[in-house]
Amino acid sequence: MTLSASHPLLDGRTTDSPLISAYRSQKPARRPVWFMRQAGRSLPEYREARKGVAMLDSCLRPDLAAEITLQPVRRHDVDAAIFFSDIVIPLKLAGVGVDIVPGVGPVLESPVRTAADVARLPRLTEEALEPIREAVRLTVAELGSTPLIGFAGAPFTLAAYMVEGRPSRDHLGPRTMMHADPDAWRALSEWAADASGLFLKAQLEAGASAGQLFDSWAGSLGLRDYTTHVAAASARSLDHVRGLGAPLVHFGTGTSELLVAMRDVGVDVVGVDYRLPLDEANRRLGGTVALQGNIDPALLAAPWPVLEAHVREVLAAGQSAPGHVVNLGHGVPPETDPDVLTAVVKLVHSVAP
Ligand code: CP3
Repeated sequence: MTLSASHPLLDGRTTDSPLISAYRSQKPARRPVWFMRQAGRSLPEYREARKGVAMLDSCLRPDLAAEITLQPVRRHDVDAAIFFSDIVIPLKLAGVGVDIVPGVGPVLESPVRTAADVARLPRLTEEALEPIREAVRLTVAELGSTPLIGFAGAPFTLAAYMVEGRPSRDHLGPRTMMHADPDAWRALSEWAADASGLFLKAQLEAGASAGQLFDSWAGSLGLRDYTTHVAAASARSLDHVRGLGAPLVHFGTGTSELLVAMRDVGVDVVGVDYRLPLDEANRRLGGTVALQGNIDPALLAAPWPVLEAHVREVLAAGQSAPGHVVNLGHGVPPETDPDVLTAVVKLVHSVAP
């Protein structure tokens, strides 16, 4: 399993970019910065492009997915593009009935709760991923030396939607299932691991230079449940792409107690949410991996001097890590003023790395 010689990571386009260097625990000439959910509702050009097109349909139209991916790069001078798609796209492409309801999130036609439900799940095929590969190729052709980050949902976060059938606060359904019916839980996690792994592999092979596994809801788990019932499936998801040699990032929210276990799934970079200062995260990880984070998204709406002081604090704390990529502690809130994001990028780039 290798990338083609004309892949941006191998042909020199993104090989030594600030993002890839920092992900590889080097100190590039400027501190790289991008934002989770940088493509999306904070941008008027996104709202315009999405007019009359349902969320998941927009992800499956390669020209539109590429355009939306490129919008924040043109506007903000960020150091990476993140592929515009969604963690439930591999479910949709496998043939699972799923939609994204505006203001709600992913909703499934039929929740998956028993071993029989899991056995009925259709398999995701390589052919079904062609619209994803095409969108990545179109995007990378425009990006030049700016790396594209591919992503996938981690099995727990995907299963959290599949078991509940919709977003939930405490994820009681999956947390019950892993204890009440561990065999069905393992089968579901493995199904989700393979679907998300194939989705990420399609993006990396088509031209993405790094991959991020989003386990957004892992923070609802204690460390013991995480290591016993979740970590192996996340590792299995990444097994689909390890051989490619692209840097891998692992991110979740509320995961201050899980950082070491999330690293041990086998990644180059750990994403840190806004709850834990980066120097403390680095201490917990023993300085073993690069960090990504962790501007508090709530402060994007604070007066500039307050936000500026916070960004400088994040930059100082991040200096302790072997590599640091600036990001938010979670996604851009939809009501964010995009000019504030541009100003944050400018500030980050103006500070000595
Ligand atoms: O810019 C980017 O970060 C890339 C695109 C991206 C989207 N979803 C686009 C999107 C990424 C990386 C995701 C991942 C994703 N999707 C996660 C993990 C990251 C996280 O935020 O924790 C999760 C949990 C989902 C599931 C999901 N999809 C939710 C909870 C929602 C929000 C529903 C709502 O309307 O509030 C979505 C929809 C979604 N995915 C939107 C976008 C831009 C909003 C759709 C719209 O414009 O109406």
